[in-house]
Amino acid sequence: MEKEIIRDIKIFDTTLRDGEQSPGCSMNLREKLEMARQLERLRVDVIEAGFAIASPGDFEAVRSIAEVVKNSTVASLARTTKKDIDSAWEAVKVANHPRIHTFLATSPLHMEYKLKMSPNQVLEKTAEMVAYAKHYCDDVEFSAEDATRSEWDFLAKVVETAIENGALTVNIPDTVGYTTPDEMYQLMRYLKEHVKGIDNVALSTHNHNDLGLAVANSLAAIRGGATQVECTINGIGERAGNAALEEIVMALETRKDFLGHGTHIDTTQIYPTSKLLSRMIGVRPSPNKAIVGRNAFAHESGVHQHGVLANRSTYEIMTPESVGLPKNSMVLGKHSGRHAFVDRLKELGIVLSPEEIDEAFARFKELADKKKTVSDLDIESLVGTQRAAIEETYRLKYFAVNSGTELGATATISMECDGQVKKFAALGDGQVEAAFAAVDHLTGMHPKLEEYQIQSVTGGIDAQGEVSVRLRSGDSVVIGTGVSMDVIEASIKAYINGMNKLVYAMKTEK
Ligand code: KIV
Ligand code: ZN
Repeated sequence: MEKEIIRDIKIFDTTLRDGEQSPGCSMNLREKLEMARQLERLRVDVIEAGFAIASPGDFEAVRSIAEVVKNSTVASLARTTKKDIDSAWEAVKVANHPRIHTFLATSPLHMEYKLKMSPNQVLEKTAEMVAYAKHYCDDVEFSAEDATRSEWDFLAKVVETAIENGALTVNIPDTVGYTTPDEMYQLMRYLKEHVKGIDNVALSTHNHNDLGLAVANSLAAIRGGATQVECTINGIGERAGNAALEEIVMALETRKDFLGHGTHIDTTQIYPTSKLLSRMIGVRPSPNKAIVGRNAFAHESGVHQHGVLANRSTYEIMTPESVGLPKNSMVLGKHSGRHAFVDRLKELGIVLSPEEIDEAFARFKELADKKKTVSDLDIESLVGTQRAAIEETYRLKYFAVNSGTELGATATISMECDGQVKKFAALGDGQVEAAFAAVDHLTGMHPKLEEYQIQSVTGGIDAQGEVSVRLRSGDSVVIGTGVSMDVIEASIKAYINGMNKLVYAMKTEK
């Protein structure tokens, strides 16, 4: 029999905080704002926008997100100190729904070695700082860091203290990804039974994936009584990452007959959100990643294909459309008009302003002139590079490259650098190396190329190449992207896009 579905699980997205703080996942202010807008379209209940005290850049990002987000709650993380809480409040107070999220560790290991505090001091600090946050903001969340390695009776006391002092959400993080689903279920039941007032607040779960159990532990916590789940898009985060939002939401959705809970997420925005994030950070989910991996809905074997053709449910437990996956139908070409293009954007869940549509349509026409058919994946890629565009201190004018088996490579590049047209030829072991050396010379910048990735946007001989590069200059790390039917051009564009982002980072991080 179908269970009654209660749409009560709150989705707390921490892509912009726990996700962004992991190596190689950083985003600039514009990207964070774009991501926050998309998270709102996805209809997450809470956006953890950052850790305001961490740096002036982080503060600015949280404040700007608090300004633009209208429906979701906007949270900033804060340690249990007045300075942290002051900064978190300053950053989120402009939000329609602000939240201060403060945390303190409760495990013997963390208390002794990291905090150098006794259990009593931890209890006192919890009481004092939750009350301090509460005098600013009604919506206070308290997290007991390393909760799953804490003594349960002590953890229960800390959680009760947080509730007594005004926390409306209490979060039980598995900070190091140590627990298992059965243990998590029992811990939640224990807290439900032993903490006074726990039924009047939101009980939250926050799981890391060190043993690959983050999603299973999140579902077990929900079964044990959790009403909020903290997670990230594509499961990005510290070490092995956080629980993946898309997996938790689709598990709840697909198995609501058994789990009996739902969320308010617009699942058709899952795929566009995942794509937007992977473009921004230059990290794609592995092909077999559940829900959003390239192969998540591909049926290779003959037996499976036969079954799916006869009836999709034979091998498909959810439809690609339900998570917003484009059908990859090749429908548009150079004769397609603006109307058809705008319709396609809508179907793909891509929301653009009228000016952005004008620009995207012009780019589409340019591409359709070169390519017979423009697929959904081409359109996504085109919009992705448009979104990655940034104030262009440097712009490619033209290039020529040369190489052969007996020769090294040469690249001649002409660029506009701060309004001035310059040209330079450089040598290298390969065409990409030579081209990057010429760009270095023309810009006077010499970033470290930490990663170079190339992938074709679609199949077929006329497929576009999509390049992403990770560049480091001092403490700034950026991802540059470029797309073209010529992979050398895509590489140069990605490198120059990265250079422009470095210039932007230097300006905004001052
Ligand atoms: O993993 C963790 O413990 C955290 C807390 C700060 C919530 O991210
Ligand atoms: Zn975490």
